[in-house]
Amino acid sequence: MTIKDIVYNDSIKFILSGGKGGVGKTSCAGAMAVLSARHGFRTLVMSTDPAHSLSDSFDQDLSGGEIIEIKGVKNLWGMEIDTEKGMQEFQTSIGDGGAGPELEMASQLVGDLGAMSPPGSDEAMAFGKMLEFLEDTSYDRVIFDTAPTGHTLKLLELPDLLDSWLGKMLTLRQRLSSMMSGLRTMLGGGAQDESSWEMLQRTKDKILAARIQLSNPEMTQFAIVMIPEAMAVFETQRLLGSLHTWNIPASNIVVNQLVPPNPDCIFCSKRRDMQQSNMVDIRDLYKDLDITEVPLFNSEIRGIDGLTELGKILIGEEQ
Ligand SMILES: Nc1ncnc2c1ncn2[C@@H]1O[C@H](COP(=O)(O)OP(=O)(O)O)[C@@H](O)[C@H]1O
Ligand SMILES: [Mg+2]
Repeated sequence: MTIKDIVYNDSIKFILSGGKGGVGKTSCAGAMAVLSARHGFRTLVMSTDPAHSLSDSFDQDLSGGEIIEIKGVKNLWGMEIDTEKGMQEFQTSIGDGGAGPELEMASQLVGDLGAMSPPGSDEAMAFGKMLEFLEDTSYDRVIFDTAPTGHTLKLLELPDLLDSWLGKMLTLRQRLSSMMSGLRTMLGGGAQDESSWEMLQRTKDKILAARIQLSNPEMTQFAIVMIPEAMAVFETQRLLGSLHTWNIPASNIVVNQLVPPNPDCIFCSKRRDMQQSNMVDIRDLYKDLDITEVPLFNSEIRGIDGLTELGKILIGEEQ
């Protein structure tokens, strides 16, 4: 699938952009968001990378964890998720006894909370937000600007990790429930902690539903962004392997920052030769995927104008 096929296809609800740090993930997510909104899709572009750069890319403050209307393009909203604020909310609801005495006692009985802790903070938060928008029907399209490869991979592992964690908790709950009801009567407690278990069950169901949507190529596409350098090739290989494991459809690779020909500049020519030699390997390695080549601009890509220019290249309307 070309980027044009992906962005202008009304069945594609989720587009994720990912790859190594600094390669151009945010710029591509932003450019695709502008294309998508201008095409008439109500579009939300959301950064799940704790090192946000969506605000810088759009040259507009999108921090604070709220959805903000992006100025200058109709149908476009943006948000950088606030992991710190979210974590506080998460800890208040799960930790500090908020999850109910049953859960606390269960952890003590097992004596190994480590093995049962849900996977980690930032990623859990980002994933939680993703879940929210996977269910939200107020947008025709949600574009996720994801964290550098390592983080993204963790995020993609969350469904299984959480699923097994929640599964363990639910099994434990079943085993404990008769004992607990006895204890609760003894201690004079009510059934007030029922909701925490229901919440866990609901989360598990949501994750399973999300996996179905995220693995459907007619609904979801992951655009891999890379630069034509050997290290980026290795990283892309790992990313593709993981996307394959988690059934996340990926059919396009954006190769960004290609140095244009310039015979008068020895430095530029050397870099170009190096990149073009890597391009031969990249075309060979990824012949089953569509490759979109993007030149190195002579300035950084910023604001709606810059993103519009990048967008034209992404859909093949300008070289
Ligand atoms: N093709 C390009 N030409 C020139 N500058 C680029 C290009 N692609 C990205 N940049 C710049 O490189 C920097 C990193 O890009 P960004 O999209 O934030 O990467 P990432 O999100 O992968 O870290 C930004 O300053 C951006 O403007
Ligand atoms: Mg970024």
